[in-house]
Amino acid sequence: MVKIYTLTLSPSLDSATVTPQIYPEGKLRCSAPMFEPGGGGINVARAITYLGGNATAIFPAGGATGEHLVSLLTEEKVPVETINAEDWTRQNLHVHVESSGEQYRFVMPGARLSEKEFHQLEEKVLAIESGAILVISGSLPPGVDTAKLTQLIRHAQGNGLRCIVDSSGDALLAALEPGNLELVKPNQKELSALVNRELSQPDDVRTAAQELVQSGKAHRVVVSLGPQGALAVDKTGFVQVVPPPMKSQSTVGAGDSMVGAMTLKLAQGASLLEMTRYGVAAGSAATINQGTRLCSLADTQKIVDYLASQ
Ligand SMILES: Nc1ncnc2c1ncn2[C@@H]1O[C@H](COP(=O)(O)OP(=O)(O)OP(=O)(O)O)[C@@H](O)[C@H]1O
Ligand SMILES: [Mg+2]
Repeated sequence: MVKIYTLTLSPSLDSATVTPQIYPEGKLRCSAPMFEPGGGGINVARAITYLGGNATAIFPAGGATGEHLVSLLTEEKVPVETINAEDWTRQNLHVHVESSGEQYRFVMPGARLSEKEFHQLEEKVLAIESGAILVISGSLPPGVDTAKLTQLIRHAQGNGLRCIVDSSGDALLAALEPGNLELVKPNQKELSALVNRELSQPDDVRTAAQELVQSGKAHRVVVSLGPQGALAVDKTGFVQVVPPPMKSQSTVGAGDSMVGAMTLKLAQGASLLEMTRYGVAAGSAATINQGTRLCSLADTQKIVDYLASQ
């Protein structure tokens, strides 16, 4: 079985609370906070665990918030490999306002990573056995520039790791520089920013994804299209997967669930179609739940069965 690891350079300890109304100045009484692990790669590893797979989350953990994050992952039975960081792991805050149904998501800057700490994380990555899959997901924290990410991917690939990337902006551009990525999953906006042009027609999206494959940047490109599902391209062709109509409660965690599901399928040697179906099913499964919850195995299986019967 191919081993799976995820790397999160900017993890977070997320807390979620509910308040009856929101207004300035006065005290906003909130419900007791619920804590949850956060950060791209960490959520990908959690989604893989929910789907019955196994993935080890590598990340920097700092201070008491870092310890809390590790204990939450241990409770969820997600294997972790951490390095001790001096800066405390950041805390994000989700507030659900009962009267309006609105969600406020306060996102703090990531904890700074020193040169030494980044190097320690890179050593963890370079100790992974050749042939394993490494998912790099999320933003870059202060202290880590894009050139460091490009180098880390070059070194990882040099050691025989198959790299999957889910990121945006300059980080995504830098991650594609070495070429030969196993899979990238931009959404339409991220792909448009990457190729530096508007993608208004469905054909535009396919052409842009095909360019990335043909230029050798990635073996597979899956463009996620929210409620429209996804368009996937590899060197043999392309597939489009549309989820069934459903009542979505919250799209938080859809992208991470999708990447987790597709990683699991890639590790099992699935085809482009099978991988994309499972990814769309898990992404859509994550939207059935309220709040920040990721995909469940039962919902994912139900949707994938529907997609396969179409
Ligand atoms: N409103 C929705 N209804 C049904 N399925 C959805 C909806 N939004 C997202 N999904 C599912 O989740 C997948 C990923 O969603 P999306 O394209 O929004 O990714 P993203 O922009 O990377 O999300 P994130 O904000 O989590 O990073 C989609 O391909 C789709 O299968
Ligand atoms: Mg995303």
